[in-house]
Amino acid sequence: MKGCRFFRQKGVHDRMGELTGLFRPGSLAVIGASRARGKIGNAIMRNIIESGYQGKIYPINPKEKEIEGLTSYPSIGAVPGDVDMAVISVPASKVLVAAGECGEKGVKALTVITAGFKETGKEGLDLEKKLLKTCHCYGMQMLGPNCVGLLDTHTPINASFAATFPIKGDIAFLSQSGAILLAILDWSSAAGLGFSKVVSLGNKADLSEIDFIQDAANDPYTRVILCYIEDIVDGARFLEVAGQAARKKPVIVLKSGVSQAGAQAASSHTGALAGSDLAYTTAFAQCGIIRARSMTELFDLAMAFSKSVIPAGNRVAIVTNSGGPGIIATDNVEQKGLAMARFDKKTIEDMRANLPQEAGIYNPVDVLGDAGVERFEFALEKVMIDPNVDSVLFLLCPTAVTRPVEISQALIRVRDAHPDKPVFAAYTGGKCLAEGVEILSSAGIPCFTFPEPAIECIRGLYNYSLYRRGAETAENGVSVKPDKKTVKAVFYDVIKDRRLTLMGSEAAEVASAYGIPAAPVILTTNPEEAVAAAGELGYPVVLKVASPKIMHKTDVGGVKIGIQTPEEVRLAFIEIMESVHRYLPKVIIYGIEVQKMMPKGTELIVGMTRDVQFGPLIAFGLGGIYVNLFKDVAFRLADGLTGTRQIEEMLTETKAYTLLRGYRGESPRDIAAVVDVIRRTARLVTDFPEINEIDINPLFAYEKGLSALDIKITIS
Ligand code: COA
Repeated sequence: MKGCRFFRQKGVHDRMGELTGLFRPGSLAVIGASRARGKIGNAIMRNIIESGYQGKIYPINPKEKEIEGLTSYPSIGAVPGDVDMAVISVPASKVLVAAGECGEKGVKALTVITAGFKETGKEGLDLEKKLLKTCHCYGMQMLGPNCVGLLDTHTPINASFAATFPIKGDIAFLSQSGAILLAILDWSSAAGLGFSKVVSLGNKADLSEIDFIQDAANDPYTRVILCYIEDIVDGARFLEVAGQAARKKPVIVLKSGVSQAGAQAASSHTGALAGSDLAYTTAFAQCGIIRARSMTELFDLAMAFSKSVIPAGNRVAIVTNSGGPGIIATDNVEQKGLAMARFDKKTIEDMRANLPQEAGIYNPVDVLGDAGVERFEFALEKVMIDPNVDSVLFLLCPTAVTRPVEISQALIRVRDAHPDKPVFAAYTGGKCLAEGVEILSSAGIPCFTFPEPAIECIRGLYNYSLYRRGAETAENGVSVKPDKKTVKAVFYDVIKDRRLTLMGSEAAEVASAYGIPAAPVILTTNPEEAVAAAGELGYPVVLKVASPKIMHKTDVGGVKIGIQTPEEVRLAFIEIMESVHRYLPKVIIYGIEVQKMMPKGTELIVGMTRDVQFGPLIAFGLGGIYVNLFKDVAFRLADGLTGTRQIEEMLTETKAYTLLRGYRGESPRDIAAVVDVIRRTARLVTDFPEINEIDINPLFAYEKGLSALDIKITIS
């Protein structure tokens, strides 16, 4: 790299937030351009020309003088003018030299189509690293390698070998799979879906989904961001960028593969409860990303968000010409957490006065199989103007008298008259309804074959509206003033002792340093020390064996509760020692922990497990010995978990919350204190990345205050 001018670290362009060299290059070169039809180097040339790209195009080929009517150059160095972007489509063995020549030429960005890099193994990975180094060295941004290329319908530019150039629209689509990208492009033209940008991410050696999401968030032509991703390299940065983007426009992600969290040995309850995919679900939900679960859902949601307005609430009205689908759809609305609208009195009166007696006038409205266009239009108009309706789902089944074309036109008229309410349709049938479906699609009304995907889309839109509203009224977090020094000192001692698990007394000290109300514990090494500790704490007390190797103390006779006198303390000390030695003769025992016996409260768990991608996840739920049986737990990312409402919302996702509010005549528990413990635990694990896992179980909740009885902390 002879003329390497400066060294650009990966991520510098993140801060610059500019991908102009890729999307709006003033000039571009195709290295590996070919005259031969059917070759990728030829397809790219033709795509660029056919897209209507207005900048200068320089084909580069060592043998040719002219390609697709344009002057060809033997090397990029021979090009007379500046080159902003180079598309590289030569075999892998030649890419490095080509990239170096681009660097020398002062090219700003590369799109490397060529395969044969890290996806092929060690040798390919080494080559990819060298390629990246070349890019950094010359300050070039790189898309790929191993990608289909990129398209921008507004520039316009098609620097790819995709067979279809999409219609102009407002969806930015980023895909880690070339095949999925090509499939969606082909499908979209039939579905009438338009794109602003389409990017094949390839191996993401330099630019990744993070850069393109950031770009799309700021792009005035993009209204919806759609992603297919297989892995996320920098989870924290992804969440930051995608979260910021989601506040401006919907970000829909289909993430295949599962998180590595599950692969991690989970020694805590919290870790076992978290499971493999949970980190993604939690992280996505928390930063407002709409998660598609399948390719079908990705396509459906893309259509819904691109074509529909966002509903003001979750109340759905259904209009149908047949009972069965109406009932199925009603069930589905409720299962998905939406609500069937309860019509206004006026709506019901109008329906009663104008529809046949046999018609269903409540929600779902059944206009009956013999309905003509006027009846459909009347019912649709009435539900559209009802103030208790937030979105409308129209279901049509073919009968001998159904006129799908005219009915679709009526639906479009109603939608056009009330453009602020989302309208979805499901035309359940085939040939008879095809023309009607076509008419709705062209008019931008999402139309499905069955009701369920339509309802899923309404749910997606509604959830996004909730997120946006929440983000707009986001509260300031409450800060915690911790004693970090104490925690550091405890960890220092534990590591010096060549342990990774804290003893109960150490864990209580760490928790107390962060204001988590740990029941006081004193470590003792002989019966007399234990008696003194009990005297200091006050009777009754609990005695527990202290050994980092014993996870389940009760199983080995390592716990005695309800101890009332010094004699009982002495006896309990000896009995515990004997019992543990009998069960586990070789285990190291540090002594016996004496803890004040706390009154019984509502048993909760607060815990933390660490996900490799997204960092610490905080868990809250029903505690005690049945946590893994009941699995009544809600999770949140610890990062930024400071707001009271935000934490309260987490509590409401569990059954434990019902207990906290006072179940069947019981007095309510101290919910504010629970919120505070969650906030403090989140702060503790954010401040100390060396904490691997935490289980506070049980955490007793009382009418006033809490007590953390058993705290397990492991560090790494
Ligand atoms: N500079 C400019 N052009 C060069 C060159 C150089 N240094 N070296 C060779 N060329 C020319 C070749 O002469 C050829 O032109 P021609 O057709 O006029 O002979 C053209 O570049 C292409 O080179 P060729 O050796 O014919 O390669 P190819 O077209 O068979 O394959 C790739 C090149 C990039 C398509 C192939 O290596 C590849 O990676 N294919 C997979 C792509 C893919 O699937 N990507 C991921 C999608 S998800």
